[in-house]
Amino acid sequence: MKILIVSDIHGNYHALDCVLKNVRHDKLICCGDIAVDYPFPEQCIDVLMDNCDHICFGNSDYIIAHDQKASDYIGERYAHLAEDLNRVTELTRRLISQDSMAFLRELPQECRFELDDISFYMNHTGPNMPFNHYLDLNTPYPELAEYYQDIQAEIIFTGHTHIPYVKKIMDKVLINPGSVGEPRDGDPRASYATFDTSTGQIELGRLEYEISNTWQALKELGYPSYSLHCLKNGVLPDKSENDSS
Ligand SMILES: [Fe+2]
Repeated sequence: MKILIVSDIHGNYHALDCVLKNVRHDKLICCGDIAVDYPFPEQCIDVLMDNCDHICFGNSDYIIAHDQKASDYIGERYAHLAEDLNRVTELTRRLISQDSMAFLRELPQECRFELDDISFYMNHTGPNMPFNHYLDLNTPYPELAEYYQDIQAEIIFTGHTHIPYVKKIMDKVLINPGSVGEPRDGDPRASYATFDTSTGQIELGRLEYEISNTWQALKELGYPSYSLHCLKNGVLPDKSENDSS
């Protein structure tokens, strides 16, 4: 059985559509952050609602579905984008139906499941981790081990960093598929992972997709420039458009 793992779609429907149509899979898993940042949140939610086998919420899903302010959950890393993120959260709220908002509100924080006798655990951040903290490529092993030591699963799926990686933690394997819709590692192509339950093979993949419709919609709806910058460059800007320094 081939499992396709996606995360951090962020309203970028064309990136999601490209991955779903081009990567053969038997099961679809989504590690959250579905709607905010790009202009097609409703389409992303619709597709995942119909096709996902397991899905949990991400920080931006929680914020939009529970009427929170993005800037109240932001850490040092993205503090310069706080006002822009508040604006995008508001823009996104206008693009989501009540049914889809209810779907986001009901998503679990974590999922545990078994497929082909392999145990899996999934959540968007690390377990019991604040939204503004990130387990990165260079996070020291003891910190990773502390977060995951009590998780009873052979394979762990996570997201949040927008940068893909595979790490071994004690007897577990941690797979972060990176971001489908908003990669932040300098490669703007859609990022995903697959796991084959028969062979144990893990693949991290990238796919190029057409960005013109998203670009056009971002401009027409007045999204802040960080969305355009990230769509084109695969990395967030160092400064906000509100920052004149
Ligand atoms: Fe995200």
